[in-house]
Amino acid sequence: MRSGVLDSRTHFVVRRDRLKPAGSLASCRTELQVLKKNMLKFSILVALVCSLAQGQTAAGEAAAPARERTVWDGVYTEAQAARGEEAFSGMCSSCHRAGFQGPGFMQRWREDKVAAFYNFMSTKMPINAPGIATKQQYLDIVAYVLSTNKFPAGSQELAVEDLGKIQVVGKEGPQPVPDGALVWSVGCLTQGDDWESLTRASEPIRTREAETPPEAEMKAAGQKALGSLSFRFLYIESLKPTNLKGQKIMARGFLDREPKGDRLLATGLIPLGGACQ
Ligand code: HEC
Repeated sequence: MRSGVLDSRTHFVVRRDRLKPAGSLASCRTELQVLKKNMLKFSILVALVCSLAQGQTAAGEAAAPARERTVWDGVYTEAQAARGEEAFSGMCSSCHRAGFQGPGFMQRWREDKVAAFYNFMSTKMPINAPGIATKQQYLDIVAYVLSTNKFPAGSQELAVEDLGKIQVVGKEGPQPVPDGALVWSVGCLTQGDDWESLTRASEPIRTREAETPPEAEMKAAGQKALGSLSFRFLYIESLKPTNLKGQKIMARGFLDREPKGDRLLATGLIPLGGACQ
């Protein structure tokens, strides 16, 4: 595991956790002092985030929520999971006797919204009769699968509107996106001596669409700041990168984590408007 990637993800976590509702400069300062004792770079980061939060307040925008909702927040009920188990034995277990839990489930769905799992199975499963279950049954099956993965039940049923807001994360919290995952990142398309790279790239975000970004991702990309990562592109010739050189783009592709530097098997390059410098 390359420390660069881990580090930047750690920053990401700190940032989320430390981002306070509008006007909490005092608490930012306290945190800053605590953190100063530990590590200089962290405190610089907190200072930066605090000033950003302040800027947001000044601009009159709503501050970001303190923490993203995750599967650990009790997002389904036990009764719903029980209904889901019934639906699962009726429609799924003939092919999936073992169910979906443990490392295999996490590897495929973590660092993504619960919506990704729901969308996949509600449009593609059962493989011999996709879409045969009702929306409610698919939701209940999600609740059941969450319960088999030992995510805690809560007092409110999982609803369709929640799916896109709940993040799938392991016990240890957000982690770098796994090797091989389909991702998007915002950066600059830069021509090196031998190959093109995405430089000043943001932390990769997991997606399920290879080429065309869903509207929400386009919106998020438009607001995303450049980062400090860099990915060497593999096979981008067919995507005609020539006219995008030096531009700020959203790059989509399969992540290939390598000791010598992470690479991206590009599946889509989308200009975001504007040069990179
Ligand atoms: C007739 C057999 C069959 C039935 C019935 C079936 N599936 Fe599948 N399912 C498959 C096959 C084959 C795959 C592998 C294809 C893939 O991953 O795209 C798969 C893959 C999956 C995956 C992704 C694999 C993973 O490990 O995450 C999920 C989730 C899933 N099925 C859920 C369901 C659910 C929920 C139902 C019931 C509503 C269901 N399946 C019914 C055959 C079936």
